[in-house]
Amino acid sequence: MTRLAIDRLQVRHPASGGDVVVLDDVSLRLDAGQSLGLVGESGSGKSQTALATMGLLPASARISGSIRHDGQELLGQPRAVLDRLRGTRMTMVFQDPMTSLNPALSIGLQLAEVPMQHRGLSRAAALAEAARMLDAVRIPDAATRLRQYPHEFSGGMRQRVMIAIALIGNPGLLIADEPTTALDVTVQAQILELLADLQRERQLALLLITHDLAVVAESCDRVAVMYAGRIVESGPVARVLSQPWHPYTAGLLASRPRLDRPRPERLPSIAGAPPNPARRPAGCAFAPRCPRVMPICMTSVPRLETGPDGRAVACHLAEVETAMNRAAAG
Ligand SMILES: Nc1ncnc2c1ncn2[C@@H]1O[C@H](COP(=O)(O)OP(=O)(O)OP(=O)(O)O)[C@@H](O)[C@H]1O
Ligand code: SF4
Ligand SMILES: [Mg+2]
Repeated sequence: MTRLAIDRLQVRHPASGGDVVVLDDVSLRLDAGQSLGLVGESGSGKSQTALATMGLLPASARISGSIRHDGQELLGQPRAVLDRLRGTRMTMVFQDPMTSLNPALSIGLQLAEVPMQHRGLSRAAALAEAARMLDAVRIPDAATRLRQYPHEFSGGMRQRVMIAIALIGNPGLLIADEPTTALDVTVQAQILELLADLQRERQLALLLITHDLAVVAESCDRVAVMYAGRIVESGPVARVLSQPWHPYTAGLLASRPRLDRPRPERLPSIAGAPPNPARRPAGCAFAPRCPRVMPICMTSVPRLETGPDGRAVACHLAEVETAMNRAAAG
């Protein structure tokens, strides 16, 4: 069952020099019980995609295309409908748990708020559910922990609390935007393992935003690679990472962090930098950095073509077309 279907999504922000297009022609599919890794360099549009899905873009943003959740179109829905969906059926975990938690409210009350508000549970029943949820995210001694405040939790424990808050309403879709970037490496691994366990246990559709291809390889069924506001390649993780078709995916893989070296904060860059969204090149946005660039790339934007094996790629290279045709022929 398709939990999230994004089709031809475009997001523009008004600016003094004219609208800035930050997402263009973005299409994604995420099924129930499936995890999709969304990767790309800083500024490629990962968070904008997440915020558009959650209805959290600024009111001034101009949005076109379609975002369907369980078949229901979200674009154009009144605020109240989106608020209800956000609290219950689709939820999001952000990078920094401290900015999302209320420092003046106990963890128990922050967790209990969701079932009290959305399901009308009594305070006692909601707190009992909050305790069960802390167990589910492997926080020991729930009874004591419920009475404590955010500052009494370590960074990793706070992120577990955020995951508990996101899941207490039993949503079908969870979006996690760089959920471990602010944590140290050992804690990162524990949180990712927890997310993967919860995703399987609860048959969640998980959209995991990360700049780390190793995380995608370990935790995701499918991957979508973004560049300059577009999806340039997507498909099953094993196939895309072992045999990338798009030169950008190939570049990311070639420059990925090695296990025998310290892990950098951001993806090590391919030579050059992504374009400023206000000054996007006319053709393929990757052309100025692409080792395979051809004359057509400078004038024509490659469309994202989907093959029959669930892979999609946006590139003018003939060999990419041949690979797609081969896949089509079985
Ligand atoms: N309100 C806005 N007005 C103009 N441009 C914006 C606005 N919000 C975001 N952008 C631009 O949209 C682009 C995509 O931003 P986004 O936050 O989605 O990137 P990202 O892929 O999540 O990057 P990171 O890995 O750094 O989190 C960036 O160039 C950003 O500057
Ligand atoms: S379309 Fe051209 S510039 Fe863009 S990735 Fe393909 S070969 Fe490179
Ligand atoms: Mg981001």
